[in-house]
Amino acid sequence: MKAQLQHLLEQSLSALKQQGVLPEDFSPRIQVDRTKDISHGDLATNLALMAAKPAKQNPRALAQALVDNLPSSALVEKTEIAGPGFINFYLNPNWLSEQVSQMAKSERCNVAKAQQLQTVVVDYSAPNVAKEMHVGHIRSTIIGDAVVRTLEFLGHNVIRANHIGDWGTQFGMLIANLEDLEQGQGEDNIDLADLEAFYREAKQRYDSDEVFAERARNYVVKLQGGDEYCQKMWKKLIDITLDHNQAVYDRMNVSLSKQNVMGESQYNAMLPGIVEDLLAQKLAEEDQGAIVVRLDEYKNKDGDPMGVIIRKKDGGYLYTTTDIACAKYRVQELGADRVMYFIDSRQHQHLMQAWTIVRKAGYVPENVPLEHHAFGMMLGKDGRPFKTRSGGTVKLVDLLDEAQERASQIVEEKSQYLEPQERQHVASVLAQASVKYADLSKNRTTDYIFDWDNMLAFNGNTAPYLLYAYSRIQSIFRKAEIDQQGFSAPIILEHDAEVALAQKLLQFSDTVNAVANKGMPHMMCNYLYELAGSFMSFYEACPILKDGTSEADKNSRLQLATITAKVIHQGLDLLGIETLERM
Ligand code: ARG
Repeated sequence: MKAQLQHLLEQSLSALKQQGVLPEDFSPRIQVDRTKDISHGDLATNLALMAAKPAKQNPRALAQALVDNLPSSALVEKTEIAGPGFINFYLNPNWLSEQVSQMAKSERCNVAKAQQLQTVVVDYSAPNVAKEMHVGHIRSTIIGDAVVRTLEFLGHNVIRANHIGDWGTQFGMLIANLEDLEQGQGEDNIDLADLEAFYREAKQRYDSDEVFAERARNYVVKLQGGDEYCQKMWKKLIDITLDHNQAVYDRMNVSLSKQNVMGESQYNAMLPGIVEDLLAQKLAEEDQGAIVVRLDEYKNKDGDPMGVIIRKKDGGYLYTTTDIACAKYRVQELGADRVMYFIDSRQHQHLMQAWTIVRKAGYVPENVPLEHHAFGMMLGKDGRPFKTRSGGTVKLVDLLDEAQERASQIVEEKSQYLEPQERQHVASVLAQASVKYADLSKNRTTDYIFDWDNMLAFNGNTAPYLLYAYSRIQSIFRKAEIDQQGFSAPIILEHDAEVALAQKLLQFSDTVNAVANKGMPHMMCNYLYELAGSFMSFYEACPILKDGTSEADKNSRLQLATITAKVIHQGLDLLGIETLERM
């Protein structure tokens, strides 16, 4: 709807330019917003206020001129000029019901595919080898996956890139530790179920046992030199980690698979060439044996250009060097038109440095955006970083286990009428949905407080609330003994609550596009929450199955209910969340 109005206003603007009322080079971003109060129309724009200055005109007069030049359309019933020069639009109810009816028939809830289909590389999840995935990775995984699904729904070619940490000097001690473990327990018997403990043990031995440390350092050199035995051990560590991660992804309904792994090591072969090239381009220079790029854009404490090391004195490369190669690869080899990185906000400076170098070196043209979609930390109820009771990092699997336990308790209390097997299914969907939704529904740029009671509550902007609204609609149809699948009826929009619901439904398409553009799934959550709210108000105000409701009204309302269910289902699906027929 917004997009259509924007388009009409654009046409009016160009007419005014042709008439010489507005300067040719005036091309503002046309803002169209919902009105707070529908007695002032459905949508409004402040375009006349924005244009008044460049046009050197009174804003109300300009608003009138914009309205006079607006092409006629089925969408707008009437317009009105308000206050200092706002234009309010009243939408045509026939147009509304027509559009909503189309949603009923459309497989895609009337969301068009994007006009310009792009290849989008999305960097998300990215845990580290031989380390348990912990809650720090949960946000990247869940938010990234929702954006991936949304982009694919719009028709884009999405390349999932799981940039796992599979390289670095830590592999020396890990290989040495794995070797000892295997010799103690026999080749097929390694139990790395507790990766975190394995890593901790390796580190502790490295720090305290000089003989072990020497062996570990030796393995680093051999691994880097391509030694067969070390490579084999290294691969084994990767495989164990990937199996472990995959189980977590599957359990969380995350669409990543092993094919999507593009770890840091994949870029190793590119690194020497990149350093050579940056030296040749005179972007990098030698400094006490290390190779450094000085960036005027970033100053250090003394106000001097910051030096970014891309090769250490001992010849080793760095995380930044890898990210330079990685951005280059994604654009030049994978053909990305856009690259989205879902990474913790603490890595912002790191990315900006890598990308400044990438642009200067000409590896990624200006028209291909490299976007850091940063997010804050997960905090406990006390506002401090989320930790276990004993102060350790919380493992993702433990979190999921606890969610499952708590959801089971709720289902046992609330859904006694279901068979035990169905109760179990309801609990696992509820658990997964609640954990994911709690994260997705917060604006990702801020830290977020992890609170079990909030996320499992049946009221508020939560997964249980939405799942309940959906299953409520299913139960209306069960009660009426009508099959939703083939159901179709003309829509009548008379009551305010019907009009409000219809308008909400039509905002779905704008919402999907906003999530794709901004990489912010909380916009979808807010929308679904508002939609469910509009549905609940409609359901209270407009009886469906009660005696006294005419057949035509009943059918129209059932039709509105099916479309609402369809949109909630589609919206949750884009967030990677399943729905429940009964709960
Ligand atoms: N493995 C890293 C970590 O756990 C995140 C990698 C993010 N992606 C990237 N291209 N740097 O912190």
